[in-house]
Amino acid sequence: MTTTHRPIDQRVEAPLKLTGAARYAADHAPEGVLHAVLVGAPVAAGRLTGVDTADGRATPGVTAVLTAADLPSFGTLTAPAAVLTMPFSDDVIRYEGQPVAIVLAESVAAAEAGRAAVVVHCDAAEPAVLGAGAREPAPGVEEFVLGDVDRALAEADLRLDLTYVQPPRHHHAMETSGTVARWDGDRLTVWDSVQAGGTVVGVLAGAFGIDEQDVRVICPHTGGGFGSKGFIWPHEILAAAAARIAGRPVSLHLRRSDQFTAVGYQPWISQTIRLAASADGTLQGIEHTVVNNTALADDFVEPAAIASTAMYAVPAIRTRQFVERVSLNLPTPMRAPVEGPGMWALESAMNELADAVGVDPLDLRLANHADVCPSDGRPWSGKGLREAYEEGARRYGWRDRHSRPGTDGPWRIGHGMATCSMGSFRFPGHARVRLRADGSVAVEAGVHDIGSGVQTALTQIVADELGVDPAVVDVYWGDTDLPRTGPTYGSSTTVGTGSAVAAAARDVGKQLAALGVDVDPAEALARAGVDALVGEGDFTVRNGFDMDGASTPWAMRTWGAIFVEVGVDPDFGLLRLRRAVGVYSAGRIVNPTTARAQMTGGIIFGWGKATMEESDQEPVHGRWLAKNLSNVAVPVNADIPADLDVSFVDEYDEHAGLIGAKGIGELGATGVDAAVAAAVHDAVGVRVRDLPILPWKVFEGVSSCDTAPDGR
Ligand code: MOS
Repeated sequence: MTTTHRPIDQRVEAPLKLTGAARYAADHAPEGVLHAVLVGAPVAAGRLTGVDTADGRATPGVTAVLTAADLPSFGTLTAPAAVLTMPFSDDVIRYEGQPVAIVLAESVAAAEAGRAAVVVHCDAAEPAVLGAGAREPAPGVEEFVLGDVDRALAEADLRLDLTYVQPPRHHHAMETSGTVARWDGDRLTVWDSVQAGGTVVGVLAGAFGIDEQDVRVICPHTGGGFGSKGFIWPHEILAAAAARIAGRPVSLHLRRSDQFTAVGYQPWISQTIRLAASADGTLQGIEHTVVNNTALADDFVEPAAIASTAMYAVPAIRTRQFVERVSLNLPTPMRAPVEGPGMWALESAMNELADAVGVDPLDLRLANHADVCPSDGRPWSGKGLREAYEEGARRYGWRDRHSRPGTDGPWRIGHGMATCSMGSFRFPGHARVRLRADGSVAVEAGVHDIGSGVQTALTQIVADELGVDPAVVDVYWGDTDLPRTGPTYGSSTTVGTGSAVAAAARDVGKQLAALGVDVDPAEALARAGVDALVGEGDFTVRNGFDMDGASTPWAMRTWGAIFVEVGVDPDFGLLRLRRAVGVYSAGRIVNPTTARAQMTGGIIFGWGKATMEESDQEPVHGRWLAKNLSNVAVPVNADIPADLDVSFVDEYDEHAGLIGAKGIGELGATGVDAAVAAAVHDAVGVRVRDLPILPWKVFEGVSSCDTAPDGR
């Protein structure tokens, strides 16, 4: 995908989307394509005893109904394949919707009709449901221990022991996941809706025993992902398998209902925080215990306890991670993984501690501010959190919040705040920059466009590095035939791919300087008689992947402070977000417009998590209760006030990458839930520790409260 010549205040990919020129995976219909629909197990637990395909095969337009007997055994699957126990590999049913057949047809409609005619036979068994599954220490996760938490808890003036719960949530990108696969002999091309095309190559090559050189993944535009398209899911492998069996290209796009079971979701997570503190609120110890559900056969760990190892200056820390195996499909990271859940618990506990000791929540955080990384004493690569607190409090009017009116008509008004933080995921990558004889510049980087504005940022980075007008920069992206970049997840894209692009531009700059001609680039090339200068650039990290600066002398995180004003109607338990102020410290902000959009989206995402979103496992049958989007509550424009005040601390992190930037995307989604819960408590004295904060929980709490807090 390429675009040309536009001012940098306009997103590079915007005209493509506006005009419909942007093509998503399902828009590709190679010659002879067949459409595939998955047939899922009708029960959540038991054994598959047979699949009756006769009526399905007899359905007009259906060309085949594939079952386990038709499919090859796949080669060794390793991460980042999400699911290592592939569907069809045995007759055990581990979750409702687990694929047991694939219908291939000349049209989507015919495939759907064929699917309805397939009869699945099984012996049902009792499903394992959330809260009643087998609990075990999280595989592959070591407890983190610093100091003596038990002693801190025994000797502290004050102890809190609080459990915070969040429900499963499905990602539901507008574009469901899907794959179009075509074989040309032993070469495989997939048009895939993904966040990390480069990683799809290795998994598909391994699954089919072919050379990585023979796999090409094309994905310029990804219609949302939020983490659900980060790893490689079975349907991607099954689409390619079906295409090979059929001898024709196959398009397997998940139906909305399949999206509940054929890819991941954020798991159910229960977190217990035990805080030890002195009477003035100085922290003496934190114990953070996490349990998340995983699938019966595959492991997913949400390492939310990491948040507590990095946030506050505390001499004793212990983290523990458990998983609970239930009859559901495998969870996966969701936007703001790790700290999104972790900060919900830790920051809620901090707000409860502030109330318990009678200290302002902001002062409590300032008093426990970590000047170095508490878990290992490393200096921060950059941290403007104090500035963020101060500026946020100033913009919000935090210090005199309770001198303003506490009601507005039926609404009781509450104020809450929390710290925001994300770790730093850094992935290596490669990029190429080509200065052409006409003075134009081409950027080549395999990275995807997922709507965050990375192509715009790359354009700007190259223009800055070479001192050219952004209007002469073209970006070529979204194809594994281009230089292999890091993924589009973990808020890692601008720092990683941006650094590789900057390095490539600097390579061009060196070559230009070597020409020794002090004129504009186009003229320099003309005088030197060369068509183009091609620069190659790498962003490298030790060990191939770096989390929170682990391979460096620096502890790397991003920071922020969120302040929210929430209206609560105590008669109905209704909540309204009235305004929010977020101030963020995340290194250099490459493009303020797209950065602001990311943080605004994060706050809205946080409000949805805090007050609306919930996927339920039906407790008798063990399947997802609803498998469509009707009656699914997510924030819409009417829920969100215009007054979302987003700003950034002015900084440059010289350690994280080549361009001063760190990741920002997911930072904005952290801390919001804890701030909202605190605001609800401030308004009506009700503590809700299990998300989402639904009206009935508030109403029930209000009904059982004698008086509002502070006598208001
Ligand atoms: Mo996000 S869960 O890193 O796509």
